This record gives sequence, structure tokens and C-alpha cells, in this order.
Amino acid sequence: MKEKTFIISGANGNVGSYFAKNLLDKGANLILIVHNNDDRIKLLASENKKKVKIIKQDITAFLQLNNKLNEVISTTGWSPTHLVHTATARSHDIKSLADTDPELWGKIIQANLIGTFNILKVALAYFKLNSYGKIVLFGSNVSRIGLPNGSAYAASKAAIANIGRTLAAEEAVNNIIVNTVSPGPIKIDDSQFSESYRKFREEYYKEKIRDIPLKRCASFQDIFGLCEFLLSDENSYITGEEFFITGGKI
Ligand SMILES: NC(=O)c1ccc[n+]([C@@H]2O[C@H](COP(=O)([O-])OP(=O)(O)OC[C@H]3O[C@@H](n4cnc5c(N)ncnc54)[C@H](OP(=O)(O)O)[C@@H]3O)[C@@H](O)[C@H]2O)c1
Repeated sequence: MKEKTFIISGANGNVGSYFAKNLLDKGANLILIVHNNDDRIKLLASENKKKVKIIKQDITAFLQLNNKLNEVISTTGWSPTHLVHTATARSHDIKSLADTDPELWGKIIQANLIGTFNILKVALAYFKLNSYGKIVLFGSNVSRIGLPNGSAYAASKAAIANIGRTLAAEEAVNNIIVNTVSPGPIKIDDSQFSESYRKFREEYYKEKIRDIPLKRCASFQDIFGLCEFLLSDENSYITGEEFFITGGKI
């Protein structure tokens, strides 16, 4: 496999934008899928027009996502080899399940579950054609510990890991490797969040860090290091797993 082309969903997010910068440094072509904003990666794309393409698309809309990706692939001649799926709707409900608005619950499930199905279905068509593909899905430690006041997010993250296990078994025959990376709290820039969500995270993480043996949140490098290996040619046998990056917290 000579040329690597990564599709990154949630590419304007904290993790997605970090991955974009680092994978570009390693020489990959990048197809970056963003939702509302591209402020974190706009400069990277404009300075590297031959290596980076941005697609602005809600991943819940399968046809538009498929069409836009096909268009980029036919104009660049790139063939996707890797998928890093970080896009997520966060736990904006901040309420117990009993008090959560059904429409909001559905929206989070739509983005995190239907969105995951869509991005996988679109990428798999290319991976199967080439009998090669490496996928990392982003789950969360909440898939094993739950998330009080974030039931839709917790449910969707657990489901993503199980989609990963299923896909690994279905697509092993096509040389497609799929793993889920499930971090605990990551140290991120939270300036874009609403005041209430920032407060919720502050309190939540203050309490959580007390329980983390290594007494800190994960850094982007902590996350990237493992993913880099899972996505590399060195990994030809580890598939269908869920990896927890939690500083020793079970
Ligand atoms: N950060 C943490 O502490 C933490 C902990 C555990 C697990 N994780 C997981 O790690 C991954 C990355 O986290 P992060 O902190 O980088 O998240 P983030 O900064 O919130 O980025 C998520 C990105 O997904 C995009 N997105 C949301 N809905 C979308 C949709 N319908 N279609 C397309 N894109 C959509 C968002 O775009 P818009 O903002 O434009 O909507 C955003 O740029 C996530 O899967 C998260 O669940 C994070």
C-alpha cells in the first residue's frame, strides 16, 4: 500500500483536527469531513491544497455524504485506505433520562448511530474494492461506566463499539481491520461550549480526575499514539477490539 488516504469525520473537532495535522505531517492525503465549522483546519487545507480536501456535510444524510465523497475521490483520483471516525454529538441533554426531551435524545442517536452507519457504509465501498481498509471508531469510557445525565451519548458510544466488533467479523475476509478507541476524559479546548455545558464538564471532570490513578486527563498524543499503531501496516491482526484510554481507571 503506497499512498494513504485518510477520511476523518469530525475533522474540525478537538481530536479530529489534531489527527489531521499529524497525519498530514506523515504524508497522508486527507479527506476531512466537517459539520458546521472548519475554523480549526481551514488554514491547513488552504496551505496544502494538493493533500487536503474538506467536505462540509452532516453525516446523518447518507446520499449527500456519499455524493460529496464520490466527487472528491473522482476529482483527486485518491482511493481511501483509512477511516478515523471522531464525529459525535455530545451529551447536550445534561438531564436524567426521565427528564430528557425525546426529540433531543433522538437527535443525538441520529448523529452518533445513524451517522456512524452512514460514514462506514460510504467508506467500506472503497475499502472493499481495494481489499484494504483500516478503521478507528471513537467510543468512550462511558460505554462501560454509563453517563448520568447523558444517556443518549452513553447508549450511542456503547453501540459504536459493538458495530466495530460486528464489522471486524464481517469484513475480515476483505482485509479490513476495525477497532474502537474509547477514551476517558481528554484535555480539550472547551471555549466553544455553552456556559452550562462547560460547567457540567468542569464538575464532571473534577470528580472523575480524583478517580483516575494517573491523576490527569488524556492528552491528544496519548490518543494518537495508540490509533497510529492500530491504523498502521504493522497492525494486521488486532481487530474488533475496544481499547480504553483512561489513565488506569476501570
Ligand atoms: N473529548 C473528550 O473528553 C472525549 C472523551 C471520551 C470520548 N471522546 C470521543 O472522542 C471523539 C472526539 O472527541 P472531540 O473532543 O474531538 O469531539 P468534538 O470536539 O466535539 O468534535 C466532534 C465533531 O463532530 C462534529 N459533528 C457533530 N455532529 C455531526 C454531524 N451530524 N455530522 C458531521 N459532523 C458532526 C462536530 O461538528 P460541529 O461542532 O460543527 O457540529 C465536531 O467538530 C468523539 O467521538 C468523542 O465522543 C471524547
